[in-house]
Amino acid sequence: MKSSEIRSLYLDFFREKGHSVVPGIGLIPFDDPTLLFTSAGMVQFKKFWATDTPLPYTRATTCQKCMRAGGKDSDIDKIGITGRHHTFFEMLGNFSFGDYFKKEAIEWAWEFVIERLKIPEELIWVSYYEKDDETKEIWKKFLPEERIIPLSEKDNFWGPAGDTGPCGPCTELYVDFGIEKGCGSNCKPGCECSRFLEFWNLVFPQYDKQKDGSLAPLKRRGVDTGMGLERITRIMQKTNSNYETDLFLPIVKEIERISGYSYDSEEKKPSFRITSDHIRAAVFLIDENVLPSNEGRGYVLRRIIRR
Ligand code: GLY
Repeated sequence: MKSSEIRSLYLDFFREKGHSVVPGIGLIPFDDPTLLFTSAGMVQFKKFWATDTPLPYTRATTCQKCMRAGGKDSDIDKIGITGRHHTFFEMLGNFSFGDYFKKEAIEWAWEFVIERLKIPEELIWVSYYEKDDETKEIWKKFLPEERIIPLSEKDNFWGPAGDTGPCGPCTELYVDFGIEKGCGSNCKPGCECSRFLEFWNLVFPQYDKQKDGSLAPLKRRGVDTGMGLERITRIMQKTNSNYETDLFLPIVKEIERISGYSYDSEEKKPSFRITSDHIRAAVFLIDENVLPSNEGRGYVLRRIIRR
């Protein structure tokens, strides 16, 4: 399945479930001085949970351009080392603002993954926030308990994007690439090895993190999910990393042509990955009028180009 088909399938599925299909915003958040870049699909909707502003819709779905380079949400140092992180990527998401909550979010995630994407259900594992028994009980309708893994706040409490704003417990879906990719027989989601790939995070925003670090209740609780398009494409196209999917292969091939090196060389692979990741990030930043400079966003772009 092509990445463009996955994108459409996702948005169409949530449209069928009563969501408004809303355009993503740019990489430079228009009204959020707490963020260097748009780092998640939820950024444009923060005030829908945190204030009682009138709502144009109570359910939305988007495909959001994201940048995680510079600032708190940066993944820049992981690029090339893993085959699954990016500075620039696309995030598919479905959102509820005081509308549905955990039950529907989980049921629809399962339906989409098993019935629409047709991923074999025995490959799916999930993690949940260890104090969130409600989420565990919902998952038990679909999965045996040994594939429902409790994790701590570090892994399963998401947000806010930036220093303040909506945040809450989350539950993540993983695909199991098999014991031979793991680091030992007891390896589980949450392990940093290559056996489990987290591809979809379902967040249940309930709190509004304040400047002093305290957690106030949100005006409207809800749902905020993020599925990495590059990761789900890798799963659907059964490639060894995100860089061999149709989202990256044309760039990798062009780097081979220009450089004369082969992506198949283990020694060169990290350079291919960094170059293809960073060229996408640079192009999308320049498209939004960010230019290399010595500070802020321009400095991040300069660092990306130099690297
Ligand atoms: N906001 C959900 C995520 O970024 O995973």
